[in-house]
Amino acid sequence: MIRRMLLLSFFAALALAGCRGGTSTEPPLLVPSKWVDHFFLPVTNMNNQPKAKAQSQSHFWPDGRTARLPPEHTVARDALKADDAFYRGVDSAGKPVAQYPVELSEGLLARGQQRYNIYCAPCHDAVGTGKGIVPTKGWIPPPSFHDERILEFVPGQLFDVISHGVRTMPSYAKQISEGDRWAIVSYIQALQRSHHASLEDVPPELRNNLR
Ligand code: HEC
Repeated sequence: MIRRMLLLSFFAALALAGCRGGTSTEPPLLVPSKWVDHFFLPVTNMNNQPKAKAQSQSHFWPDGRTARLPPEHTVARDALKADDAFYRGVDSAGKPVAQYPVELSEGLLARGQQRYNIYCAPCHDAVGTGKGIVPTKGWIPPPSFHDERILEFVPGQLFDVISHGVRTMPSYAKQISEGDRWAIVSYIQALQRSHHASLEDVPPELRNNLR
């Protein structure tokens, strides 16, 4: 009887020792994944989950690639950008457009002014003469928008400079959406016009106000 009780208390102590609630610094026991595969064990350890990681090898697809290519001619939603004039500033022959692919309005011009002052004025200055603050700190001075050469730019050419940059000027395609680029282009042309205006451009009733 005593022996049996001793045995019982021994196992009870053993069982209690298992519930001591302490933490362990040992790494958790893991069933190696090759055993899981090999013996079809229903244990996956949770941290060994069957999944396809990008760029990894696949034994499922015949081409051995995990990453699947989208079906041919797939276009992401809202990313077709088929309108060459609007998205690329060129006509069907690939030449820069001379006409705006957007409707000109006072609102567009105002938006253009605001975007211009943020993105272009630091280098090109507020009126486009190329005397912004950045060139005073060592950046290459940009040309004036009022030079003969740039006065002849059609809207598509100005759009192209914003989209792709030019020589030492970086592209602003990432920062400025196509719609905003056209707004800026219209504002630059307004600046150019303002520097080459004649008396005829002023409405007759306002001419007396000029000094
Ligand atoms: C970091 C300074 C900087 C900013 C910001 C900048 N530009 Fe320029 N830009 C330049 C420089 C420098 C040149 C001259 C590039 C060259 O000839 O090497 C230039 C040239 C140009 C030209 C003349 C291109 C030619 O063929 O000579 C246009 C047009 C122009 N920029 C438009 C813009 C517009 C529009 C923005 C705003 C979206 C803008 N730039 C923002 C520095 C800048």
